[in-house]
Amino acid sequence: MTTEGLPMVVPARDLPPRVRIHEVGARDGLQNEKTAVPTGVKAEFIRRLADAGLTTIEATSFVHPAWVPQLADAEELFPLVRDVGADLPVLVPNQRGLDRALALGATRVAVFASATESFAKANLNRTLDESLAVFEPVVRRAKDEGVHVRGYVSMCFGDPWEGAVAPQQVARVCTALRDMGCDELSLGDTIGVATPGHVRELLSLLNQRGVPTPAIGVHFHDTYGQALANTLAALHHGVTTVDASAGGLGGCPYAKSATGNLATEDLVWMLHGLGIETGVDLGRLTATSVWMAEQLGRPSPSRTVRALSHKDQ
Ligand code: HMG
Ligand code: MG
Repeated sequence: MTTEGLPMVVPARDLPPRVRIHEVGARDGLQNEKTAVPTGVKAEFIRRLADAGLTTIEATSFVHPAWVPQLADAEELFPLVRDVGADLPVLVPNQRGLDRALALGATRVAVFASATESFAKANLNRTLDESLAVFEPVVRRAKDEGVHVRGYVSMCFGDPWEGAVAPQQVARVCTALRDMGCDELSLGDTIGVATPGHVRELLSLLNQRGVPTPAIGVHFHDTYGQALANTLAALHHGVTTVDASAGGLGGCPYAKSATGNLATEDLVWMLHGLGIETGVDLGRLTATSVWMAEQLGRPSPSRTVRALSHKDQ
């Protein structure tokens, strides 16, 4: 480490020059908190993330408030952050969610499908095919309104109820979402069980099925400490969109074995060490996660946040 709290830069071959970080802490992170975080704190969090240089910040979800009470303040929050100068995607599970998001001027939405029947049922109260049928008009209408649409696919590498998930099963859902018109996909390792070979295998299969790498993002939860290794495998494949959550916040309320996402600080440390541009100021981002940890009353699980916030002590 250099004295400024930055990694030594030693570029590796065959990696993209720039990565877009899709920051999910305010949504994936805070949806999993036991108690709801005050709306003003969420707004401040998003504002600080934008100030740290993050350009895509998933702000909230327009889901049923009883299903995810932690994000029930979406209508209050979104207007408070609209002007932060970053893209602010929001989750919409159906037409009702899209109505709510469009009414507030959202320009980026995400539908969220599952590669497995069990999670489709647990998360959306629908079979997999029923949920795809719900998304179809949502995506069409969003595209007609000029809105960018991301399609999440959860349980791409394993499922707590069904165990191993065949890549072919994931590919079917991915191609269905692309056929509907989703601009990008995000491959969710919801319970964090993926390993790098599995990641490469799935990415290759998706390419074979006509999904181009630039349309694919990766979304790793860090349950088994594999998120960074999996990300590096994806980067070697050419992926340039990586989801991460500031301070490693997160999990999923409808998949108990899910822990936090890959911490954005851990990701930025690796990317900057590889000479890959992100536009993120690591010092500011770390300060944001330390501040957020104080708000939540517990330390961040991110190794990089811990190392950088203790380095002067
Ligand atoms: P349902 O109970 O089947 O809903 O839930 P419904 O369609 O039968 O409607 C029942 C009532 O809810 C109706 O009201 C609707 O209007 C209302 P009524 O007519 O009875 O008065 N309703 C809504 N109200 C507000 N906003 C809405 C909405 N939709 C219906 N959007 C539903 C189905 C999809 C709504 C529910 O299952 C839900 O909200 N699920 C969301 C679960 C969730 O947010 N999970 C976490 C995000 S996914 C994730 O974290 C994974 C990810 O990070 C990737 C990874 O890690 O893998 C993305
Ligand atoms: Mg997630």
